Amino acid sequence: MESSAQVTVPWRVPLLLLAFGSLFAGVAAGLARLGWAFPPPAADLAMLHGPLMACGFFGTVIGLERAVALSRRWGYLAPLLTGLGAAAGIFGAPFAVAPLLIALGSAVMAAVSVVFYRRQRELFTLTLALGALCWLLGNVLWLAGRPIHAAVPFWIGFLVLTIAGERLELSRVLPPSDGARRVFAAAIVILLTALVLSAFLWTAGTLLLGAGLLLLALWLMRQDVARRTVKGRGLPRFIAVCLLTGYVWLALSGIVMLGNGGLGYGGPAYDAALHAVLLGFVFSMVFGHAPIILPAVLRVAVPYQPYFYLPLALLHLSLLLRLGGDWTLSAPWRAWGGALNGVALLVFVLGTVAAVLRGAARAAV
Ligand code: HEM
Repeated sequence: MESSAQVTVPWRVPLLLLAFGSLFAGVAAGLARLGWAFPPPAADLAMLHGPLMACGFFGTVIGLERAVALSRRWGYLAPLLTGLGAAAGIFGAPFAVAPLLIALGSAVMAAVSVVFYRRQRELFTLTLALGALCWLLGNVLWLAGRPIHAAVPFWIGFLVLTIAGERLELSRVLPPSDGARRVFAAAIVILLTALVLSAFLWTAGTLLLGAGLLLLALWLMRQDVARRTVKGRGLPRFIAVCLLTGYVWLALSGIVMLGNGGLGYGGPAYDAALHAVLLGFVFSMVFGHAPIILPAVLRVAVPYQPYFYLPLALLHLSLLLRLGGDWTLSAPWRAWGGALNGVALLVFVLGTVAAVLRGAARAAV
């Protein structure tokens, strides 16, 4: 087998550029949907906002992480296809090209995840594989011409199961009891049932999705080792704060879905439920895991700095403003909350680059 360094080094940077291109185009497209004026390419992408964020950015980054872990050339096809699919969407390729490339890329990632499950038959590898399968199913719905909202529960399932699986893996140091593992498995079964149901009975399916997200959030809040590490200092404490506050957003998303009789098809409650989980929960996890995952994927150190709390605080406060706008039907609050969400992501990217440069300078001394 080739060494990971031989296989991966030349691929990582262009793939990450595709992913981050998708993130920036996706945020601009989201802001255009909130009424902010953007020049034509971003404004024209408004309807691609969801796919660019969920598939072009997260799908490509997660596919890359898994390809690095697999250390086989074919694994890189997953982030390559999804990154190219996002680029095709951004540059206005005919409609089916972007969903086709992204569906193919997600099929490769599902295959990679099955390889991991076969190597190690554990609950966490199964959860990761089911997450990849959810992503593939959502992309197939999108490719088949179903409205974007029909794919959204599956994309939520992809990201939530991926994060839950990774937390379960990390909890192997302090393994949950058999009873706790059964509750975790029940939450996963509820989520999967909800997704399948949503494809046929939207309201019932997305109500059940709310219940599944809430149950999983309560499980994570109770079981995660973050409850202990939050009492520590430095990086472990920062990670724990990211995790615990992220779980609150996950719970809130479930509560909003339950309180509104499901996800709906657009509008303030849809915006609130979606972004509580996709922005509040998922990005809190990204902020917390970046100092651990980037060194593994890019072979660069990300030494902890106290200013890491800045984008996290900005994310939470801006999301509160946005959800407050959704709740009170205030378009300006919603628009400013969304804009500051974008600023939080930018501050995070710049802060991480600054930490990497500082780490590299320190290593060179
Ligand atoms: C700066 C951050 C963001 C802004 C300004 C933003 C803005 C928006 C807006 C305005 C909508 C339409 C809501 C509605 O129909 O009422 C939307 C939908 C959506 N957003 Fe975001 N969003 C952001 C971050 C994210 C992130 C991080 C994700 C992660 C995956 C995401 C995924 C989605 C999805 C899947 C939809 C549904 C797409 C659809 O129905 O067409 N968004 N977003």
